[in-house]
Amino acid sequence: MKIKTQSRSSALSNKIKTKTATIGVIGLGYVGLPFAVEIVQSGFHVIGFDKNQDKIRQIQEGDSYIADLPKENLQRIIKSSRFEATNDFSKLSQVDVIVICVPTPTAVDGTPNMSFIKEATHDIGRNIKTNALIILESTTYPGTTEEFVQPILQKNGFVIGHDLFLAYSPERIDPGNSKFSVSNTPKVVGGITAACLEVSKVFYETVIHTSIYTVSSPRVAEMEKLLENTFRQINIALVNELSQICYKMDIDVWEVIQAASTKPYGFMPFTPGPGVGGHCIPVDPKYLLWAGQQHGISATLIEAADKVNDSMPSFVVNRLENYLSRQNKELSKATIVIIGVTYKPNINDPRESPALRVIQQLLDSQCELKIIDPFIQTFSVQQSLLNTVPLTGEIVQHADAVLILTNHSEIDYSLIDQQASLIFDTRNTNFVFENKNYHKL
Ligand SMILES: NC(=O)c1ccc[n+]([C@@H]2O[C@H](COP(=O)([O-])OP(=O)(O)OC[C@H]3O[C@@H](n4cnc5c(N)ncnc54)[C@H](O)[C@@H]3O)[C@@H](O)[C@H]2O)c1
Repeated sequence: MKIKTQSRSSALSNKIKTKTATIGVIGLGYVGLPFAVEIVQSGFHVIGFDKNQDKIRQIQEGDSYIADLPKENLQRIIKSSRFEATNDFSKLSQVDVIVICVPTPTAVDGTPNMSFIKEATHDIGRNIKTNALIILESTTYPGTTEEFVQPILQKNGFVIGHDLFLAYSPERIDPGNSKFSVSNTPKVVGGITAACLEVSKVFYETVIHTSIYTVSSPRVAEMEKLLENTFRQINIALVNELSQICYKMDIDVWEVIQAASTKPYGFMPFTPGPGVGGHCIPVDPKYLLWAGQQHGISATLIEAADKVNDSMPSFVVNRLENYLSRQNKELSKATIVIIGVTYKPNINDPRESPALRVIQQLLDSQCELKIIDPFIQTFSVQQSLLNTVPLTGEIVQHADAVLILTNHSEIDYSLIDQQASLIFDTRNTNFVFENKNYHKL
């Protein structure tokens, strides 16, 4: 059995090394589509699978819905005939390696929603041929690959590590980051067996141009991803809390952080803001919290951090109200220009963005909003569809305040500086404002 397994895994490794393997990517979202493009660019034939028919159509038309993926790149690889996007999951029978990049949100009660991984694994189990490699990249709780994915595949008659290889490797993509992309960010991988690990390592070494760090099990790889994002969640909460204390004490929190950053060891700067957003920082710590609870540990630090970050939208609205009242204006009668809806600058993803909660609170206060975000045209706040508008001097002049929630670099900040009667900047935007009513968080 051992010799047979070795020859099966080395046959697959050879197929990968010679780039004659066909690669499948399940879930063509912020993670899956850029990675599929990267794999094509490294010389493979790739089949991308998604349940969303609209996304398949957009890809087939060469229309990129990911800000970091220029449509020219997508069109080039579509033309090359080495990439096809489909919702025909029977084509999973044609692939040698499958990377799973489906969503892992939380359910309403904050527990992991595993329905997407479950559905993808069932599709794989029904269609995959023997001697293939499956790698889960979705962020999830430790134990998912071994205790959730593996049993589903085994039910389809596969013996993991023998006729099917299974591993976990967390996705570390950072949308909007121009320095680090999939191809130059080190990859961590853990396999169910030594053969699973070996063939996964060969796959990543062939596709990306940086180091591959192997760990002893998928559980370690799953946990290290939760550590990365919980580390961010807690440190952001710390500076958010600091910003609330500094405000009451009339201390500039940004100056404090800058001064602390001069320490060459033992300190790493994080920046406060209107809260946390995206598919990772507000969600992943909840997976760790849940995992701890399953083992009798209540992760109080994670809960406290969540509470602080969640309090930031109200903190921002209260402060805006204070600044307006200093000018004898009421929030309920004010017109506010909102700059930025997405959860971070220069991307088109508004998921879980704290701006949505600030906007909701402002709408509840009856004020009028003009929303500017060059990256999105429409977005939803509690089932209502809202539109963004272009930034003009007239809009700014007629508003009572400009509230910067996302510091996109293509915003004309000098226009805001010159025309606004009040600016509240929650991001310490990289622009020297001279407006006499400029306030930072
Ligand atoms: N977005 C990020 O910055 C980021 C970074 C690191 C890790 N992650 C993790 O990567 C995973 C994917 O995140 P994302 O941001 O790409 O999500 P996304 O929502 O942008 O994309 C997921 C895609 O999967 C598709 N899908 C859902 N169920 C499917 C199924 N059964 N079969 C095929 N397709 C299916 C959806 O239609 C969607 O297109 C999540 O676990 C997330 O936590 C995301």
